[in-house]
Amino acid sequence: MPRQRHRSPGFALLLTAAIVTLAVVGAAHLAAQPAGDEAPTVMPRYDANGALHLPDDYLRWTFVGASLGLSYNDEPPQRESFNHTLMEPTAYDHFVRTGEFREGTMLALLVRSTEADAMPARHGRFASDVLAVELAVKDKERVEAGWAYYDFRGGANALTTAQPQPPGNRCYACHIDHAARDNVFLQFYPLLADAAGLTVD
Ligand code: HEC
Repeated sequence: MPRQRHRSPGFALLLTAAIVTLAVVGAAHLAAQPAGDEAPTVMPRYDANGALHLPDDYLRWTFVGASLGLSYNDEPPQRESFNHTLMEPTAYDHFVRTGEFREGTMLALLVRSTEADAMPARHGRFASDVLAVELAVKDKERVEAGWAYYDFRGGANALTTAQPQPPGNRCYACHIDHAARDNVFLQFYPLLADAAGLTVD
């Protein structure tokens, strides 16, 4: 009998074992994937000093609402702003499905100046320069109140990392007292409320 013949049962056994191992590993891997259309969860990233990194892709987040000239003071603002609110897409999907802002939810507020009189527009105003970039992050491990607020400033001085605003300052106070749902101003985001099938009083 040729020597090769003697080896083949061993090879067959080895091959079977390898196939079984691959199948088991493959099945375990599939089980770890999120079910259905659920995207992997994106969480905030911090540096060694606890400063939040402004996510590189925040301008591509999901648009949830806009406000024009909204001001919190009795006197009208010196400069009207056009604000856009964006939400990290995996937290957005979670909110639309459950009505809950999960831990790690990130929302960005872009404050822009307004302009008018640009051809061919005869009336109305449109968003222009970025005046401020602010983030709200739900992270109970870092802030007892649940949400932390970050100011990245805008324009030429834009920061890529920011420390949280001091707990209890005006950011926290206004959001806790006046926002319709879990610190978030859902009352000004009908697009988000409608997508989640929620009514806001
Ligand atoms: C007096 C009230 C008030 C104060 C103070 C305030 N905010 Fe807000 N904030 C609002 C309102 C109203 C909105 C709704 C969107 C808008 O203004 O266009 C908002 C929206 C936001 C959003 C979008 C997500 C959300 O929660 O609705 C972020 C992020 C944000 N603010 C960050 C900050 C930061 C950072 C500070 C402090 C530096 C701050 N805010 C101070 C009233 C306030």
